Amino acid sequence: MSLLAPGGLPAGLDTPALVVDEARLEANLARTADTMRRAGVALRPHAKTHKSVEVARRQRAHGAAGLTVATLGEADVFADAGVDDLFVAYPLYASAAKAPRLRALAERVALRVGVDSAGGAAALGDACPGLAVCVEVDSGHHRTGVAPADVVGVADAARRAGLRVAGVFTFGGHGYAPDMPPGAGADERDALAGAAAHLTEAGYDLAVVSAGSTPTATYSARPPVTEERPGIYPFYDAQQLALGSCTVDDVALVVAATVVSVGADGRRVLDAGSKVLGADRPAWVRGHGLLPAYPDVTPAWLGEHHGVVDVPDGAVAPALGEVVALVPNHVCQVVNLADEYTVVRDGGHVGTWPVDARARNR
Ligand SMILES: Cc1ncc(COP(=O)(O)O)c(C=O)c1O
Repeated sequence: MSLLAPGGLPAGLDTPALVVDEARLEANLARTADTMRRAGVALRPHAKTHKSVEVARRQRAHGAAGLTVATLGEADVFADAGVDDLFVAYPLYASAAKAPRLRALAERVALRVGVDSAGGAAALGDACPGLAVCVEVDSGHHRTGVAPADVVGVADAARRAGLRVAGVFTFGGHGYAPDMPPGAGADERDALAGAAAHLTEAGYDLAVVSAGSTPTATYSARPPVTEERPGIYPFYDAQQLALGSCTVDDVALVVAATVVSVGADGRRVLDAGSKVLGADRPAWVRGHGLLPAYPDVTPAWLGEHHGVVDVPDGAVAPALGEVVALVPNHVCQVVNLADEYTVVRDGGHVGTWPVDARARNR
């Protein structure tokens, strides 16, 4: 029985709750691992999505080379759990507060960290001599990273600072728009190929050429890329559905929410607002998530504790007190706001997994 079908959630849930379909999760983990294996590219999933030691354990069991994280706090949680190979894919600035944490982490795991400036490299070198770094390349998202032509300057600064330049990485976040993933994946590959060529010419020996996001990973997974870092693929979400990264049958996580009020105009109000669902709503998705069992209604706006669902005249809608399965827009935000996952298989409750790295955002 699908989680998304009417009656697909286990009975007796205390809502709002994050419910994971274990069989679909396993299928998603296996499929992406297999795709990357066939492409000859290492899989280094971004653990900021799930923040879960149990999901990380399963990713490793499917052959993940290590994990990607965004913060030292996330890295500490996974290192404590025995993950011994971590990439902080972020231009970490080694402030006085972060330097000792970084050093302690580098002593206990194989670690690399992102860098995109000479100043950042100098601070990392002071904090942690000999640390492995990857220079971040901007492949079109225009968030962080330098142009391919400017990587040698950053790499030279890193070398002068006593760091070891292990490679380059990029995040093609401009793939987050309709029809954009294939082109953004190609941009990732092209920008990394250009950057790697500049560095090789300058005498650097690169072990790592790292790309990826869930929408672009399948498009950029070919030489010279050596690893991909998708994060959302274990669960997927409404954004990924809109981008074509998955089908509705792949969605492995829903927010279970109860209809707490029915307005005179027929609107339903759910007990999941922005404190559960996050606020992400790009212009290219229909609402604040999807209710697959009720395709004609739209979660239209959120209060902190209220999810207000518009119900057009004549549309079939859930009843007062009914528990519905909502596919959230951006699962990373939803997980970051939750304490635990309720895990089900074949409609029955099989366990509860903590969100181990919840709020470890520094
Ligand atoms: C640097 C970096 N790598 C990988 C990812 C994972 O991409 P996605 O969330 O699309 O799976 C992200 C997501 O923001 C990221 O910032």
